[in-house]
Amino acid sequence: MAKKQKVQFRIQRFNPDIDDEPTYVTFKVPYSDRQGVLDALHYIFQNLDSTLAYRWNCRTGQCGSCAIDINGIPGLACRTVVDPSKQYTLEPLFNFPIIRDLVVDLGPGFRRLEKLRPYLERTSAPDRPEKLTREEISAAMELRSCIECFSCYAACPAVASAKQEFPGPIAMRELASFEFDPRDQGDRVQLAVTSGLYDCTSCGICKEVCIPKHIDTRRTAVEGLRALAVERGMGPLEGHQGFIKQIESTGYAVDVKSTPLTDQLPDVIDVDDPVDEVLFYPGCLINLRIQQVGLNVVEVLKRNKVRVHIPKDFVCCTSVAFRTGARAIASEMVIQNTDYFRKLGVNKVVGLCPGCMSTIKQDWPIILHEKDKPPYDFEPFDINEYLVDQLGFERFNQQDLKPLPIRVVYHDPCHLNRHQGISEEPRKLLRMIPKIEFIDVEDSDRCCGAGGGVRAGRRELSQEIARIKYEILSEVKPDVIATSCSFCFIQLVDVVKNSNSDIRVMNITDLLAASYRGESLK
Ligand code: SF4
Ligand code: SF4
Ligand code: FES
Repeated sequence: MAKKQKVQFRIQRFNPDIDDEPTYVTFKVPYSDRQGVLDALHYIFQNLDSTLAYRWNCRTGQCGSCAIDINGIPGLACRTVVDPSKQYTLEPLFNFPIIRDLVVDLGPGFRRLEKLRPYLERTSAPDRPEKLTREEISAAMELRSCIECFSCYAACPAVASAKQEFPGPIAMRELASFEFDPRDQGDRVQLAVTSGLYDCTSCGICKEVCIPKHIDTRRTAVEGLRALAVERGMGPLEGHQGFIKQIESTGYAVDVKSTPLTDQLPDVIDVDDPVDEVLFYPGCLINLRIQQVGLNVVEVLKRNKVRVHIPKDFVCCTSVAFRTGARAIASEMVIQNTDYFRKLGVNKVVGLCPGCMSTIKQDWPIILHEKDKPPYDFEPFDINEYLVDQLGFERFNQQDLKPLPIRVVYHDPCHLNRHQGISEEPRKLLRMIPKIEFIDVEDSDRCCGAGGGVRAGRRELSQEIARIKYEILSEVKPDVIATSCSFCFIQLVDVVKNSNSDIRVMNITDLLAASYRGESLK
């Protein structure tokens, strides 16, 4: 009879009464079809070690008790199907005190929820019968479907760094579920603002780990509450006001420090026998602060025989307005940009900054619809997506790339990886550069703390999140930290500088351009 396949589970063990620190024990569990991680834990308990502590109840994804960290990502043990080709590391949920092994004390999380008055608050008795339409209650219903597994809380980088202050995505979801319920008369927005509404970096991992209900806490709860905070004069924070005023007065989120990229380049950059034609949307940071990053994008496009239009009269994508709740200033800019691009007659818009590109892809269509404007008539692409998927990996000019014998680690920008689903493309481009030694670290997708207005509005928190990210990236001793985002770029440059390190920070297109030019980066 064929030997049964076994799957390896490395499990964190810890008894705070007797152990100084956690240890790991490895078990081999016979694999069976459709086996769940919880089934494997039952097998270990029943056959290999009955002292293993873990929690479970319903086995059907309804109670939330079995949430643990599975290969570094919070999830439900009962809903995670074992892949026999993988090995598993199981740890208790992060951000909670450990009771024993995989069992954590959820008390601190629940006590934080209790403080938010998690019940309908009413100042007067309602008319009877009280009528509610499906439309009136739909947003609250989505948010109320939470099973309180606390996976989102365990994954949140702001909770990890703001420890005692930010009660996490689960709390913002709870407050929004009451705010969007027409029966509730409590002041939930005020409570959200004083409870850290502006601590969220918009990283989006809370949605990714919400396997039970797929609740989009960032967009529905955090951004929904921030928009109401601004309407009611409670937001955005002081640190955001400068950006908002700057957009209102100049059309850009930052002021001019040196010659804008759009003034350094002609309207159209022509190439012989073009294979394609795009408009390069630089966004405010590349246009006004880090122009070399934009010049490198243009160089890479040129080397690939792409004709590039430079939009001399573009304005801010207003990502900062969407993320901080100041949506009122967005409409005019969105319409101005889309009318302008239509006038230029371009079919493809390419950008490097994922903050801009995710806003163009996801927020602009909503504004145009709300304002009764026609949808935009171009296709927006992130630069990595464009080079690999649109232009085509096979057609990419690899022959002119020269060796870059350096060690590179990659940081996934949240707005590229989670909000646009682009993670393989930058890796493919990196691996294409001859002699690059690419180290793909496990936590490459952990937030750097720059987004969601946190860098501008909550600088200390932002720096603390960046410090943790830097520790992860620098551990592998890279020559270069690569990314593909103008905002992550400046955040990582700052943390590298504050750490007195000589590691360089470069975008993927900076590396490609350096390779085409045959530069030495050592
Ligand atoms: S989007 Fe990120 S920072 Fe914001 S609440 Fe969710 S996990 Fe936390
Ligand atoms: S929002 Fe989702 S991940 Fe967070 S506690 Fe609720 S069900 Fe779990
Ligand atoms: S055991 Fe209830 S959700 Fe997994």
